[in-house]
Amino acid sequence: MSLKFKNSKRIEGLDRNVWIEFTKLAADPSVVNLGQGLPDISPPSYVKEELSKVALIDSLNQYTRGFGHPPLVKALSSLYEKFYQKEINPNKEILVTVGAYGSLFNAIQGLIDEGDEVIIMIPFYDCYEPMVRMAGATPVFIPLRSKPVDGKKWSSSDWTLDPQELESKFNSKTKAIILNTPHNPIGKVYSKEELQVIADLCIKYDTLCISDEVYEWLVYTGNKHLKIATFPGMWERTVTIGSAGKTFSVTGWKLGWTIGPNHLIKHLQTVQQNTVYTCATPLQEALAQALWIDIKRMDDPECYFNSLPKELEVKRDRMVRLLESVGLKPIVPDGGYFIIADVSLLDADLSDMKNDEPYDYKFVKWMTKNKKLSAIPVSAFCNSESKPQFEKFVRFCFIKKDSTLDAAEEIIKAWSKPKS
Ligand SMILES: Cc1ncc(COP(=O)(O)O)c(C=O)c1O
Repeated sequence: MSLKFKNSKRIEGLDRNVWIEFTKLAADPSVVNLGQGLPDISPPSYVKEELSKVALIDSLNQYTRGFGHPPLVKALSSLYEKFYQKEINPNKEILVTVGAYGSLFNAIQGLIDEGDEVIIMIPFYDCYEPMVRMAGATPVFIPLRSKPVDGKKWSSSDWTLDPQELESKFNSKTKAIILNTPHNPIGKVYSKEELQVIADLCIKYDTLCISDEVYEWLVYTGNKHLKIATFPGMWERTVTIGSAGKTFSVTGWKLGWTIGPNHLIKHLQTVQQNTVYTCATPLQEALAQALWIDIKRMDDPECYFNSLPKELEVKRDRMVRLLESVGLKPIVPDGGYFIIADVSLLDADLSDMKNDEPYDYKFVKWMTKNKKLSAIPVSAFCNSESKPQFEKFVRFCFIKKDSTLDAAEEIIKAWSKPKS
């Protein structure tokens, strides 16, 4: 084969992808899919209606401004000014992208160089490591660790970073730290004190923060989502990422946004203008109109930012009870829509599975085939060295309608019945 057919060096070793592998397996309609973070609940009707209205307007079927459709960046600035307690320039401090993936890509390509180091917390949303490597930089990993929780419920808040260990990861080459709160897959919502430790280190070591906050609205009773960009000295060094897919349960829309100071956003804009250039106009217009509906009723329980977490908290609690009922000890998430549990206690004969994969990969493949239930292996959210630490855990997604959760419950309960 011609050597010219070979991949570029920058993508060497990055060809495996958990979503491609496991989404294919879960595509069988007889499988109950608690895998990918894909809501099967209906998105709000007004969001869908706005999209159908837009399709009839000729001008909205053509290209729009590359860095974000004007009505959308205006709506986003109005929404977020309340949280940042400052004016946000819609044209200079917001960039609309192809999903939060696009935001991460623009931020990492626009700000990170060869030779830089980027701190990533384990477990991490899987694309952080390959994106950092594609930029030619070195990921530096730090694990979230859990304290022992004998007898008590295991909470995502039991998982913390050791401040001294974290400081040991910073040096003069550290260009950025990637933060994810609420966290996927653990569901941790970083507290004020924890964010202050990170902020202090970013300032001390003159480091940027890429803050992935796609689950910002999804926090459960007793928790509050805080934006690290609002901590003193952090706005100027932080880009914050959001997602329409997660905000309105429309993951197929693939619209995301990045908010930050113009001296950072302008570099992300350079990446965007030389890659995708612009995002779909009808989706941006519909998103803008949908946001206005909720911006005008932020304190109302009907506002989707308030009603969705309420709806999901019930589903979270149901998943906790279900997993506990079969003897598992799930990590109860404070935010997001995933729950992880060590599944090695469940009876599963993996002897026929190929042996070159972590336990959780084998387990999920076996479960999908034999039990018709899919999930996601948590070691996919780890670098190679840390996979053994998490390979007994799998992640279940609970933004699912009750009938899907009923079907999952039936499978899990039947499975746990003692063999006769
Ligand atoms: C933490 C995190 N970041 C980014 C993304 C990507 O979001 P989007 O679908 O908007 O690209 C996801 C999607 O699941 C996620 O969980």
